[in-house]
Amino acid sequence: MLSKKVEAALNKQIELEAASSNYYLSMASWAETQGLNGVANFLYGHSDEERMHSMKLIRFVNERGGHGLVPALKAPPAKYKSVNEVFETVLHHEEKVSQSINELVDLCLKEKDYSTHNFLQWYVTEQIEEEALARTSVDKLKFMGGEKAALYFFDRDMAAHATAAATSSTPKGME
Ligand code: FEO
Repeated sequence: MLSKKVEAALNKQIELEAASSNYYLSMASWAETQGLNGVANFLYGHSDEERMHSMKLIRFVNERGGHGLVPALKAPPAKYKSVNEVFETVLHHEEKVSQSINELVDLCLKEKDYSTHNFLQWYVTEQIEEEALARTSVDKLKFMGGEKAALYFFDRDMAAHATAAATSSTPKGME
């Protein structure tokens, strides 16, 4: 059985993951309108992953006798100044998610909720990967210095990431 405190914190995390999914969906749609199909595919896939992160939490809360709540979400920005802005925003957002997961882990220890603590380890690991990918993308874009020709290769790179994630035998997050 979840304590009310842990249940409320998990529901906040459900909201943050769902908001991430919406955010990345909006970025994907913007990138597609800019002809950046690789970036768009990567972000569409990323949006799906975040939805799965949210759903995985909902089902865990319900399994433990709580109630996973579907949040009302604020519309994310529809337009972005550049691909750099998109990936800087992704990195900033992922750092916020990591911070939130860390606080949740901390709360579980204080509440002596070792099952939820154990469940959250998957998210801790996932965040390391997600932050690293976002940081690498930001660094690459900085290195390119806004060159249009380099953006073509960056877009191709992101398409490869999207394909690798889509063809991995186990859907990411369902391990
Ligand atoms: Fe599920 Fe990227 O945080």
